Amino acid sequence: KNSLSGRDLLELDDYTSEEIRYLLDLAIDIKAKHKAGEVYQPLKGKTIGLIFEKSSTRTRVSFEVGMFQLGGHALFLSKNDIQLGRGETIADTAGVMSRYLDGIMIRTFGHDKVVDLARYASIPVINGLSDLAHPCQVLADYQTLLEHKGKLAGLKLAYVGDGNNMAHSLMIGGAKLGVHVSIASPEGYEPDAQVVAAAQAIARETGAVIEVVRDPMAAVQHADAIYSDVWASMGFEEEQKARELAFASYQVDEELASHAKPDYVFMHCLPAHRGEEVSEGVIDGPHSIIFDQAENRLHAQKALMVALMS
Ligand code: CP
Ligand code: NVA
Repeated sequence: KNSLSGRDLLELDDYTSEEIRYLLDLAIDIKAKHKAGEVYQPLKGKTIGLIFEKSSTRTRVSFEVGMFQLGGHALFLSKNDIQLGRGETIADTAGVMSRYLDGIMIRTFGHDKVVDLARYASIPVINGLSDLAHPCQVLADYQTLLEHKGKLAGLKLAYVGDGNNMAHSLMIGGAKLGVHVSIASPEGYEPDAQVVAAAQAIARETGAVIEVVRDPMAAVQHADAIYSDVWASMGFEEEQKARELAFASYQVDEELASHAKPDYVFMHCLPAHRGEEVSEGVIDGPHSIIFDQAENRLHAQKALMVALMS
């Protein structure tokens, strides 16, 4: 029915600008249906497996609730409860899951595991966060930005902090959608050079500008949105102390935010650490749209499952 049926989502560079825009529009449509109290169950009888090798609040709840609302069923498969955690191979896990399920979401460490699962599975595989990318979050984020600003192309999003999975997916997604993305990271914590080059190559086609700078003030200048994320991602907890030092001048506070546009929005994928990557005044202040982002994880994930699994 649509070009996405049966496809995987490993990172947003798998998809064309039109396909990403289609997913955003579908999410907005599904959200409106839900708000109107309409029952919409195109995935009746379908099951998705949710493999988690890392913690989650939003991703787990949005996939489970989303699948329930769509008429299907979701299985929470924590690493400690399935044989994958005892050494069963990804290939065998993929082969077996493909005989029971209609789709798999996986949250894990190395991105190669997500790629391997997709290679061996005959059903759609969705990346629910790897060390490299977090495309599900970014679909919800650009939906939220679109809802707040009424457009995407030509907006400027400043990301201040760790050049991590969030920075990567925001750059790739921004490049696809014509959003200028300016990343400010301290030395040694820049985003992956290959991802930056890939995003810049996409941006040349769409007119977006993707840049990596050192100075948070330069990134935030005239920004329509300021985005921040934790200094130590899951899997990097033991670097917390060293990172607190390296990132000390990378907190998004009222002073830094005053260099953005007066109507800027503050965004964060959550979970957040107030007093580290963002001040309490900014994240809990009038510019913050963090709960709209969190809510849109539900609508964005529903759109994704409908597009890939029906
Ligand atoms: N933003 C996000 O993915 O949150 P969780 O880790 O709680 O799923
Ligand atoms: N960069 C964070 C995002 C959490 C949603 C992490 O990987 O832990």
